[in-house]
Order: sequence, then C-alpha cells, then structure tokens
Amino acid sequence: MRKKVALIGGGQIGQILAMLTSMKELGDVVILDMPAFENPVKGKALDLAEMAPHGNYDSRIIGTSDYKDIEGADVVIVTAGKPREAGMTREDLLDINTKVIADVAKGVRQHAPRAFCIIITNPLDAMVYVFHKVSGFPKQQVVGMAGTLDTARWRAFIAMELGVSVADVAGTVLGGHGPDMVPLPRLTTVGGVPLAEIATKEQIDRLVTRTREAGTEIVKLFGKGSAFFSPAWSAIVMAESYLKDKRRVLACAAMCEGEYGVQGLFIGVPALISAKGVEKIFEIQLTEEEKAQLSKTVEGVKKTVSECRISPAEPLP
Ligand code: APR
Repeated sequence: MRKKVALIGGGQIGQILAMLTSMKELGDVVILDMPAFENPVKGKALDLAEMAPHGNYDSRIIGTSDYKDIEGADVVIVTAGKPREAGMTREDLLDINTKVIADVAKGVRQHAPRAFCIIITNPLDAMVYVFHKVSGFPKQQVVGMAGTLDTARWRAFIAMELGVSVADVAGTVLGGHGPDMVPLPRLTTVGGVPLAEIATKEQIDRLVTRTREAGTEIVKLFGKGSAFFSPAWSAIVMAESYLKDKRRVLACAAMCEGEYGVQGLFIGVPALISAKGVEKIFEIQLTEEEKAQLSKTVEGVKKTVSECRISPAEPLP
C-alpha cells in the first residue's frame, strides 16, 4: 500500500515539499490550503502530475481545502501560516500563526490521527508546542523542523568558507530556531578533522553568527517571504527517515522532558527519527559555556511559548 503525505499549506515551501515528495516517491501527495487558495493548489498538483513523465514518478498528487482528503495520511507537514517580511522577527508572527496552527491541529487530529507531524511554521518552537497541545498527540508523533535546517546552514557555510565538500562537514546546532541558537564548533569536523584545527577563531565566530542570522539574511534578500528550498528539503529528510525507518539522527525541535534540563518545551536537540517517530533524544555533555548559551535560547523559547494563547484539546480516546 502506498504511503500518503499531507502538506498543510501549499505556498512557497508547500509546493517544493510536493515536488520533493513526488520525486523521491515517498508517497501520494495531498496539498491542503485555505478555500480561497484551493484552485491554486489544485493547479500546482496538476502541474506536478504533468511533470511526472519526465520526473519519472508515479505519486498521485491532489490539491484541496477539505481535511477529509488527508484521511489516513502517514505524514503531515505543516507550513500553513504567514512567513516573515523584511524587518520582522519570527516572533512577530506569533498571534496570527498560533490561531492557524490551532485550527490545523484540530483538522489533523480529526482526519489523520496517526500521522507523524512535522511543523515548519514560525515561530517554530512555539508553533510545534501549540500543535502538540491542541492535537493531544503523543510527543513522539510531533516534531519541529528547525535544527535540521540550522545544521544544514552551518554545514553549508563551513564548506563555502573552507572550500571543502559539504558532504565532509559534520556537526550539529542545538536550541531554538532563532538568533540565540547554539552551533557547536567544538563537535564539528571536516572529514574527521576538528573544525578548530582548520579554521581560525575569527572564521568560526563569523560562521556561528552567519548561521544564527541565516534566515534573516534570506528574508532581507527577498524583501517579502522567507527561505523555501532548504526548509522543504530539511523536512523531507525527516519524513523519509520516518517513512523508511532510516533511523537518522537529526537535530529537531523535540519535546524535552528533563533532557538538557528542559521541561515541557520543544527545543532543538539531536533526535533519532525512526518508524516510531522521535524514538530517542541524545544528550551531549556540554561545556559550561555551551550550557549557558543553551539556557539563553531555552529562556527565549519559554517566553515565546508563554505568550501563545491556546486552549488544548481533550485527550484522544
Ligand atoms: N490552513 C491551510 N493553509 C493555510 C492556512 C490555514 N488555516 N493559513 C494560511 N495557509 C496557507 C496560505 O494560504 C499559504 O498558501 O499557508 C501557505 C503559506 O505559504 P507562504 O505564504 O508561501 O509561506 P511559506 O514561505 O511557505 O512559509 C510558511 O514556514 O518557514 C515558515 O516562516 C515561514 O511561517 C512560515 C511558513
């Protein structure tokens, strides 16, 4: 039986998600958007179906505004909501996107209660929290796409700076999806060589700052809207690990209940994604300085979450 991937939000990121899901044949695709955008998403679905003969995939793709069409989805990826514009922080989206995510969580809960849910909408760490609260889903079933993207940016910038293949750069980024995120130079390697041995302190500091501001750098270039290729591919890596039980260890916004001293918040941590969802969170022994940085980003997420106005759903039967 084919898998089914439901994309809630068919805008910039949603359309790339639809293309990647089809091209990688992860499953059939449903793109769901608001009634006013039903025709555009139907058009995107048709366009992708017409690309299939050259793209060499057999995924069926539909556009809709009816949650009944996501029935039985294995994976749900949420991009519904507003993106940033130049001069806006992710937190500026809080009120409007909290309402959107609460509505989406109710729709998913009703029609795809077993789906593994990946949230992309910003401010991400708070939106994944809202989705989790309103859906009432187990913590293993809900995850935020942030660290996977932040890590990709960190690796990409290092590869550009040092003139090496991005394939050989390994590392991770912890914390919230914002300017206080915590790239970990100490644990980053290039083909097994510690980063500190091939890059100067000035270079590393510059790379850390660029990674923290990477989303804003793109927003400034666009003027309106935010990144879409790299967020889409990051979520696809997470979806693929779940659907194929690849057991990838990826930095994700996962619900921490004691890990890293964090209680009841979604924070970017290295997590094992398997057919069980978020199967395990790995705890890294951090230095005092890294701990202080993590604690700063956690405080930021806590504050944003405390400003969300939501009413959680009753527990699922
Ligand atoms: N239900 C379904 N779709 C919705 C809803 C809703 N309640 N509200 C908004 N949408 C749809 C919009 O109609 C739009 O098509 O979500 C889509 C969002 O697409 P874009 O505006 O193009 O935004 P995008 O660049 O895809 O980013 C989406 O991801 O990275 C984050 O900050 C970004 O929060 C933003 C989200």
